[in-house]
Amino acid sequence: MSEQRRAVRDGYDGLADDYLANRSGEPASVLTALTAHLDSGMRVLDAGCGQGTPVTDTLSSDFDVVGVDFSREQLRLARDHVTDAALVQGDMTHLPVESSAFDAVCAFYSIIHVPVEEHERVFEEFARVLRPGGYLLSTVGDEAWEGSNPDWLDSGIEMQWSFPSIEETNELLTQSGFTVLDTFVVDDRLGSQYPFVLARYDGDRVR
Ligand SMILES: C[S@@+](CC[C@H](N)C(=O)[O-])C[C@H]1O[C@@H](n2cnc3c(N)ncnc32)[C@H](O)[C@@H]1O
Repeated sequence: MSEQRRAVRDGYDGLADDYLANRSGEPASVLTALTAHLDSGMRVLDAGCGQGTPVTDTLSSDFDVVGVDFSREQLRLARDHVTDAALVQGDMTHLPVESSAFDAVCAFYSIIHVPVEEHERVFEEFARVLRPGGYLLSTVGDEAWEGSNPDWLDSGIEMQWSFPSIEETNELLTQSGFTVLDTFVVDDRLGSQYPFVLARYDGDRVR
C-alpha cells in the first residue's frame, strides 16, 4: 500500500468521530440528481461510504445498497448509523463486488483522496461494476491539486487529497466508457466547494 493510501486510511481511522460530527445532517440535494434516474429497490454501490451518514443511510431507505470503504473505523460508525445496507471493507481501486451488478454508483468526497495516478483505475472499476446504462454520481476535483492538512478538523491528524482537473477527470470518464451528463458545484458543511459529476456508463470503452 502506498504511503498516501496508508495516510488516508489511517487518517480516517483516527479522525472518524471528528468527521462524523461534521458530516451528519441532511444529505446534499445533489443526491437527487442520481436518485431521479433510479427505481425503488435498484442496486446502488456507495464507494468510500465512510461513516454512512447521511448518504448511505438515505439511499438505503429506497435502494439495495452496498457501502465499501477501506477505513475500519469509518465502517464501524457506518454499522451504527446505517439502517439497512451491506457494508464491506475494501479499496475503490479493487472493489470487492461482482461485475455488472449495480444500477448506480455514488462516491461522495472519496475519490478526491485516491492518488491522482489511480483515478483512471477507480473509474474503470466503477465501469466494471455498473450495468450498461447505469449511473455514477461522484465528487471530483475542480483545479488539479495534491496536498495535505497536518491537523484536519482540529483532530491533530494529517489528511491528504489528490486529484486532476475536472477536464482531465471528464477525459478519464470518457475513456472508461462514461458519458458525462451534468456537473454540479456543491457547498459542503466543512466550508469547501467541490464539483460533482453525473455520468452514465454506456458500456463500450474507448480503449
Ligand atoms: C471524506 S470521507 C466521505 C465519506 C462519505 N462518503 C461522506 O459523504 O461523508 C472519504 C471516505 O473515503 C474513504 N476512502 C478514501 N480512499 C479510499 C479508497 N482508496 N478505498 C476505499 N475507501 C477510501 C475514506 O476511508 C473515507 O471514509
